[in-house]
Amino acid sequence: MAVVQDALLVAGGLGTRMLPTSASVPKEALPLVDIPALVHLAREAVAAGAQRLHIISSPRKDMKALLGDHAWLQNKRPDLDPQLLSPFADVEVFVHIQHEPLGLGNAIECALDDIDGPFLVLLGDNILLDQHTSPNNFSPSNASMKLVENFEKNGLPCVGLLAVQPDEVSNYGVVRQEGERILEICEKPAPGNAPSNLVLCGRYLFTSDTKSLLQKYDVATHGELQSIVIQQHWMENDGLLGVELTNFQWYDSGKPLPWLQAQVDHALRRNDLSASFRAWLIERLDQD
Ligand code: UTP
Repeated sequence: MAVVQDALLVAGGLGTRMLPTSASVPKEALPLVDIPALVHLAREAVAAGAQRLHIISSPRKDMKALLGDHAWLQNKRPDLDPQLLSPFADVEVFVHIQHEPLGLGNAIECALDDIDGPFLVLLGDNILLDQHTSPNNFSPSNASMKLVENFEKNGLPCVGLLAVQPDEVSNYGVVRQEGERILEICEKPAPGNAPSNLVLCGRYLFTSDTKSLLQKYDVATHGELQSIVIQQHWMENDGLLGVELTNFQWYDSGKPLPWLQAQVDHALRRNDLSASFRAWLIERLDQD
């Protein structure tokens, strides 16, 4: 039996940076070319061993179609990998409603009555890819699997890390490390004050003490920083480890420019699109 059986796909935020689209379409449903972000995340979590997926949604989001089984369309598109039309068919799915977007800690808290052991957390608008497969030849990302492997080795909570350009650090939680151990997380530091260029990239593996820690460091006192505060607790006690996801591409559907860049970058790397898209893009850029 897999060591980590539960994964939270966190999609309870308002998505204000993707308005007006996000008023009617959850940003977690937006595609990376033609595969919805949440489908990428679900298959990544299953590849890491999760058998129970917890979707954190908000009262205003309609996730029904996204979470549905669309196997009936298979005969219209026999070329598609069946796991993409039925991405949740082989797992147990729980939908938890986060009534107010009070931050990641509060989003996680919504699911914890249904979880006993360690669990993965995947931010619903962050896709991490180490392979650029197409819908007829789909392989899920190995990002969450790397965290599970780290947990199997060390038994400690861990977080995914990626390097960003020095002028981008102020958008992220930036870590200071000694070996794999995280000593500090600086939330959105000015570039000159950042302890490194390694940042939290939307993948976490939290341990079963999370529930009691979220009660101890409650949202009323700590607000949106609640999840950072419990990570600080681990740093100051048994430890919190960083897992560098080197060679992964990080795609974001939460903001217009990164979303657009994600489409172009992934299309340029995908075997089925690369040659014709590249030729069109070069010709198009020549016209400007
Ligand atoms: P973001 O902070 O990027 O999402 O959270 P947001 O709050 O929806 O974005 P803006 O600022 O309004 O544009 C990253 C992920 O965490 C989820 C979001 O849905 C997103 O997928 N999230 C965020 C929650 O589930 N609950 C929250 O309280 C906040």
